[in-house]
Amino acid sequence: MKRCLHRAAVLHFLDDPSRDAENSYEYFPDGALVTEGGKILAVGEAAPLLARFADDCEVREHPHALLLPGFIDTHIHYPQMDIVGAHGEQLLQWLDRYVFPTEAKFADKSHAKQVAQRFLQELLRNGTTTALVFGTIHPESVDAFFEAAEAFDLRMIAGKVMMDRNAPDYLRDTAQSSYEDSKALIERWHGRGRARYAVTPRFAPTSSAEQLDTAGRLLQEHPGVYLHTHMSENLNEVAWVEELFPHLDHYLHSYDDAGLLGRRSVFAHCVHLSDDEWRRMAATESNAAFCPTSNLFLGSGLFPLHKAEHYGVNVGLGTDIGAGTSFSLLETIDEAYKVQQLQGHSLTPLKSFYLATLGGARTLDLEAELGNFQAGKEADFLVLDLAATPLLERRLSLCQSLFETLFVLSTLGDDRVIRETWILGQQRHHRDRVADTSLSL
Ligand code: GUN
Ligand code: ZN
Repeated sequence: MKRCLHRAAVLHFLDDPSRDAENSYEYFPDGALVTEGGKILAVGEAAPLLARFADDCEVREHPHALLLPGFIDTHIHYPQMDIVGAHGEQLLQWLDRYVFPTEAKFADKSHAKQVAQRFLQELLRNGTTTALVFGTIHPESVDAFFEAAEAFDLRMIAGKVMMDRNAPDYLRDTAQSSYEDSKALIERWHGRGRARYAVTPRFAPTSSAEQLDTAGRLLQEHPGVYLHTHMSENLNEVAWVEELFPHLDHYLHSYDDAGLLGRRSVFAHCVHLSDDEWRRMAATESNAAFCPTSNLFLGSGLFPLHKAEHYGVNVGLGTDIGAGTSFSLLETIDEAYKVQQLQGHSLTPLKSFYLATLGGARTLDLEAELGNFQAGKEADFLVLDLAATPLLERRLSLCQSLFETLFVLSTLGDDRVIRETWILGQQRHHRDRVADTSLSL
C-alpha cells in the first residue's frame, strides 16, 4: 500500500505523565507522521522526514492542525445511543424506566444493525477509533455490531450482556444460555480481523452467583477475551449488592470470587470503592473506566482518580453513552477536570490527553497495537482543527505553551474540532465531507 506523509503539529504519549511528565510525550510543532500499509512507519520533525520520504510518497499538508492518536473510549453502550438525555432519574430507576425498554428493541437484528452503523459514524465524528462496548442480552446485537465495525475496519471490543435476575422477563437469560450464547460469539468474533470479545455481565445485582461463575469459566476457557462490567457506581446499588451477597465483605468480592479480575478486566465507574477494593484492583492488574459525564448526569458521585493513582490502578476514560452526555472524549476530558476540581485536585492536560489515547490502550491491553505513533503500530489517528470555531482560534492564538493549548482545546473542544479521522491509514471521516466518506453497508 502507498506511503503517505501527513504534515502538521504532532503529539503522542510514550508513558503516563504522572510518572515523568517531561519524558512522557513527544511533540513536534512542525511534525510529520508517515504511514504505510495501515501502519505507522515514522514520526518526527517534518524536515528530515520530508527529506527521507518525499520522493516516494504522497504528502498531505494539514494547516492549523494537530495530529493525535485516535481516542479510546473504555466504556460505552451502543444500544443506549437513543436514550442520551433521559430526564430525572438516578441509576436504578433510570435502568428500569429508560434502559430496559430501549434494549428490548435489539431482539430485532435489523434495528441493531441500523443503530450500530449510526453509532460507529458518531464515534468517528468524535474521533473515537477504538471502544469497549456493551451490546444487549441478545446475541444478534453483538453480531450486528461486529458486522458494522468490520465494514469500517475498526478495532472494537464488545460483548453480549449477561443478566439472569432482577431484570424484566423479556431481558433475562440464564447462566446456561448466557454461557452458550457468549461462547458461540467468542468463537465467531474474538480475533476475527480487529474484533475482540468481552464477557459482559451487566453488574452484580443482575447476575446470580452462578452466572458470575459462568462468566469466570468463559474467561478461563478462552484466554485473551476481556471482562467488562459495572461496579460501585451509585450508593443504592452498593447497598443492594450488600443485601444480595450478605456473606461478602465488599462489592468487588462478588466478581473476585468468580475469577473475574485481571489485566483484561475493565470495571466501569468505581466511584465508591473502599481502600481494600482499590488494593485488590491493583494486585490483580484490573482496570477502572472513569466516566465523568455519566457520573455527573446520574448524580452517582465523583471518581477518585487520585486514589487510583495512589494504588497504581490503571484508568481509562469512558463516555458511558447513554448515561454519559457526549460521545466526545474532548468533552469527557473537560468534565473529568471539573470532577477532579471538586475533590481539590487539578488534572493536568498532559494527563488527560494521555488518558484519552495511550492510557486507554493500556486499559484495554492494546498498547502493543495502538495508542501512540511508535513505528509498527496501527495507523488510527486524528486531524484536529485548531481553528474549528472563532472562539477556539482566538483563544488558542493567546496560548504560550503546549500545556495551555491542550487545556484550552479540551475546555472549548468538541466534535467540531475533529476535522478528519483515519483508520489503518485510510480516511474514514472528514467533518466537511461527511457524505463522501460515510459507508453504506
Ligand atoms: N449499571 C448497570 N447497568 C448499567 C448501565 O447500563 N449504565 C450505567 N451507567 N450503569 C449501569
Ligand atoms: Zn455503563
